[in-house]
Order: sequence, then C-alpha cells, then structure tokens
Amino acid sequence: MSDLDPIQIQEQGSFLTEEAPSDAIPERPMMAIAAMRLIDEELAVEGIPERNLATFVTTWMEPEARRVIDENLHRNFIDHAEYPQTFEIQQRCVRMLAELFNAPGETTGTSTQGSSEAIMLGALSLKWKWRERREAAGKPTDAPNLVFGGDVHVVWEKFCRYFDVEPRIVPLQPGKYTIGPEDVEPHLDENTIGVAAVVGTTFTGHADDVVGINQLLLDLKEKQGLDVPLHIDGASGAFVWPFLYPDSKWDFRLEQVRSINASGHKFGLVYPGIGWLIFREKADLAEDLVFYENYLGKTDATFTLNFSTGSSMVLAQYYNFVRFGKAGYRRIMEIMQENAKSLADDIAGIGKFQIIGEGEETLPLVAFNLAEEHPYDEFDIAFQLTAERGWMLPAYTMPPNAEKVKMMRALVKLNLSRSLVDRLHEDIADAIGTLEEKGPVSESERKRVKTSVTH
Ligand SMILES: Cc1ncc(COP(=O)(O)O)c(C=O)c1O
Repeated sequence: MSDLDPIQIQEQGSFLTEEAPSDAIPERPMMAIAAMRLIDEELAVEGIPERNLATFVTTWMEPEARRVIDENLHRNFIDHAEYPQTFEIQQRCVRMLAELFNAPGETTGTSTQGSSEAIMLGALSLKWKWRERREAAGKPTDAPNLVFGGDVHVVWEKFCRYFDVEPRIVPLQPGKYTIGPEDVEPHLDENTIGVAAVVGTTFTGHADDVVGINQLLLDLKEKQGLDVPLHIDGASGAFVWPFLYPDSKWDFRLEQVRSINASGHKFGLVYPGIGWLIFREKADLAEDLVFYENYLGKTDATFTLNFSTGSSMVLAQYYNFVRFGKAGYRRIMEIMQENAKSLADDIAGIGKFQIIGEGEETLPLVAFNLAEEHPYDEFDIAFQLTAERGWMLPAYTMPPNAEKVKMMRALVKLNLSRSLVDRLHEDIADAIGTLEEKGPVSESERKRVKTSVTH
C-alpha cells in the first residue's frame, strides 16, 4: 500500500506499536500515510460488504459514478445560491420520481438523508394537515394517532415518540406478515392523521394490501366524510415495484396515496445516504413545514430536518437515472429477481426450509425458515455460515404477535452474481451438514449472530 519504508512511517506515527488514539485527539500529528494505514487496518476486521446479505443498502457502484461522487464531496448541497445547478439536478430527480410514481400533475418533494428523514417529514406533514382540518372544523387537536402494521420499520414508532402521536400498531400473526383493510379499519377515527402502508417490508420483502387500504379510505371518505391520507413507505419497494410489477397499483394511481418515501441508497442503487420524499400534489405538503429564508441574498424554500449536507449522492442518483434509464433499472431488477429465484429454488432443494411468500410480489430477496423442528435453529445456521465462509446472513424473530417465528433473509443485490448464489447455496447446505453432525452452536457463538434487519 505504501512505497514508504514501514520503519519511516513508524517513526512518524507510532500506530504499529501503540494503541490507536481513542479518548482524546492526539497532541501530535502523524504522517498522512500512517493515519490512512491506521484506519485501513482498524477496518480490516469488519465484515466484507460483498458478503453482507443483511443490508438493503447499495454496496457497489460503477467507477464513473464513484468519480462523480468523489469530485463533488466538497459541494455543500444547501448552498443553493452558489450551486444552483446542483439544486436543479435534485429537482429533476424529484420530478422523475414523481413521474415514475404516476403523480397526476405538478408536485413537490425533496432529497433527504434516507427514508428515515423522509418518513419523519412526510408524517409531520400528515400531522400538520390533520391539525389544519381539525382547526378549520373547530375541533380539538390534542390526540392525533397514526395507524400502521407491525411490519413497518422502527422509524415509524420513532416518529410517534418524537412528535407526540399515538401509534396504533396492527400486530402480525404467525403466517401473516403484512396488513390489509380489515386490519386497519378498527383503528381509524377522526383523530387519525394517516395510515402508513409498506411496499417491500424489511422483514419478508412483501407489500401491504395498498389497493384494499386505499379502497377502505375512499369508502370512509364517501360514507363518513373522513379524509384519511395514505403514506407509502417505499424505502425499498418504490424502486422495485415500478420495474418488476408495473401493473400493480401501489402509488399515486391510488387516490388516497398522498406521499411516498424511497431510499435512493437501497434499490435506487446509490451509496448511502440518500432518500426521497415525494408528494402527490403541492397541496399535500403542509405549508407550515416550509421555511423561507434569505440566504446570501436569495430566498430559499426548504423543508428538511438537516441543513448542510453533501451533494454527491444527489448527483449520483441523477447519474443512475440518466445512465440506466428505465430500461436499465428494469433489467437490473430482473437480474436480481432471477438470481433471487434461483437462490430460493436452491434453498428449497436442500429439503429443510420453507420459502416465505413464494410467488407473491416481493423484493429481490429470499426470506426463509426451517420447515420443521431440528436440534439446531436459524440462529445456529447463521452463526455456522459466518464461521465457515464469512457470509453475513441474519437470523431474527418476527415482530409481535409473530415473535415466535424465526426467520432468515438473504438480499440478492447486483453484486451477488449467479456463481456467488451457487456458492451460498452450497455453503448453506454445508452449514446444515456440520450442524447435523455436531449439534447446535454454543450460547456465546449464538450471541455473535447478526440479528438486526432494520436497514
Ligand atoms: C420499509 C423501510 N422503511 C424505512 C427504512 C429506513 O430507511 P433508511 O435506512 O433509508 O433511513 C427502511 C430501512 O431498511 C425500511 O426497510
């Protein structure tokens, strides 16, 4: 890595023989190359992103995209006055996504740090719009609630806690991992600021019954005059459904869908962190959330939680849009889906597992669990796979009331080529073979299993 003599580097910065600085900024500098090596070597013990089958987040981009990212790292996105073209490119992305999600006319939206920020903003807009409606009707505004299923990401509960909204969570059941209108209906009332439905859940990759929930909300509007908006959490699915399931309605084609969030850094195929929030119409963004300010002589309108942030990922998103086009995105999604299908067939072929929700519309992933009781479980398999080949394939329990169900999930992203899929299949079979022979792994080994699937 370095052309310099290691002894010379050691003289300048003693990282080879001393502990890495950790509690205070060191008094003295070290050579740039020594600092770089210190960090490289610290990170060498981490997992290899290519073998991380737990994350939805992009782990590979083209060299040309990396160059765009690299060359714009010093461009603060919020400086719209100085970098108007960067802002225009962000607005182009907003318009392109609105078109992809079938917005009926002119709309608005923003880039964010990820879906979490987009969800916070989208849900705040639901709360503000509900308050406007209540105040206009002379009704109290002290008890807002938000309805969603146990299949949502943790950020929805976080929003409710941070912004003082009662969460009305529809519990899951063993074998039922998404929600529909019959689940939502009992929770709705005049204090419901909105319903959140997921397209591409974190836990199994499937979608809530958005068409059914939309119909329920339309009926409610017609019969009781209650206008409850629907927000779609398309963190992963909003970049998958338009390409793999174009005839399936989940977006602004459905009347009550007022806002959609998407993670550019998941199936938008950009490195972290970039997310998007798109409104159906300009009127769906609560005007009170927009801040107008005179910044360096120009009036800016913003509605993000952050201020300064990078431009690189916004530009990288635009790069992907123009580079791949719709046909390219479609082909990439199809490739991942084909490989996911092949992996699902292989895993089913081992004869021990059931594939969850096979044949349903889903993200390019395989969610599976053991079909019968064995002396070992999903957590043992996950540990064995990491120990034998370094795969990070998470094992986890489902949210309430399906918490007794154990699950495994393998994301099939663009860098999981067919030969890696085949390798993974053989490694799962080998791990099972080892466990059949030696029995379950130890308690301390089980503690090292990757159990978080919330990204
Ligand atoms: C359905 C869903 N919503 C929200 C999030 C949070 O997204 P982000 O990591 O972009 O903040 C995730 C992350 O995996 C998710 O899967």
